Amino acid sequence: MILDKIESLLAEVKEMKASNAEEIEALRLKYLSKKGEINAVMADFRNVPADQKKEVGMKINELKQTALERLNALRDAIETSEDGDQGLDLTRTAYPIKLGTRHPLTIVKNEIIDIFSRMGFVLADGPEAEDDLHVFTKMNFAADHPARDMQDTFFIEQNPNDVTKNILLRSHTSSVQARVMETSQPPIRIICPGRVYRNEAITARAHCFFHQIEGLYIDKNVSFTDLKQVLLTFAREMFGADTKIRLRPSYFPFTEPSAEMDISCHICGGKGCGFCKHTGWVEILGCGMVDPNVLELCGIDSKVYTGYAFGLGVERITNLKYQVSDLRMFSENDVRFLEEFEGAK
Ligand code: DAH
Repeated sequence: MILDKIESLLAEVKEMKASNAEEIEALRLKYLSKKGEINAVMADFRNVPADQKKEVGMKINELKQTALERLNALRDAIETSEDGDQGLDLTRTAYPIKLGTRHPLTIVKNEIIDIFSRMGFVLADGPEAEDDLHVFTKMNFAADHPARDMQDTFFIEQNPNDVTKNILLRSHTSSVQARVMETSQPPIRIICPGRVYRNEAITARAHCFFHQIEGLYIDKNVSFTDLKQVLLTFAREMFGADTKIRLRPSYFPFTEPSAEMDISCHICGGKGCGFCKHTGWVEILGCGMVDPNVLELCGIDSKVYTGYAFGLGVERITNLKYQVSDLRMFSENDVRFLEEFEGAK
């Protein structure tokens, strides 16, 4: 009796068919679950006379094994068959592709590049992990300048025998000036956008990395007047024709004379507000005439050539343009912040 039952079940499971996962599950429940057919046969096993137990036991095992193998084979067949996934509705409208937006710093950087390109400047580039030689030595930094201090700058590798071989994350893009000058001769007219690093506590107004755009122009008879006119043109192109600039004397090791440039505050129109600390002016860059020492250190004859350089802060200009109140927002990657710039270029 029980053997007949097993034989007929065996025939059934060998013929099991399914075209999707639900049907397979139904078969599993029917035959292999706790309350399934095979378990029912096993429950009957204790009534089998002792002399038949061996034969019946082997048959039950064969039945169970066959059922398992058949179900596995059906699963494989569904997974590998092309139209096996019944959950896939090919007639459904596709999900819309969500386009990203340009980062505000990229938007502003591109705009600045655009303005200087129209004045004949070409792009130059240099490494972010740079040596002391290009960041400091060739830029005429004194040996004991505080920027060369571990506390001020991120050093990656110290060289005990030769400080100029120390490797650091560049603290300004002025290093690209040295890179360009040592491989080319005037006329040189470049801008170099890039990221720079400083060991600063991260707050709304300071960060350990930010972006600069360096400018360098070297030729015969380049004067401070040229510098001033180029910067005025830039400020007006960037912030509007009524923008005023103000140059204040300053000091940088690589320029002489040096200046810092303010523009009339774009936010309050020069009347005074929280952003310009109620002065009506906002500093956006450092500049000056390239120090003859720098020219000589980089292989350019300072008796024949003169030049000017400037370095501007991309975050500061972006803040002025878009009134971003907290520097940290630029690097938090919050899409809600980035989506604010969907309408910008
Ligand atoms: N490298 C300066 C800084 O990071 C900015 C700067 C000032 C760059 C004057 C220049 C320059 O090229 O002439 O603060």
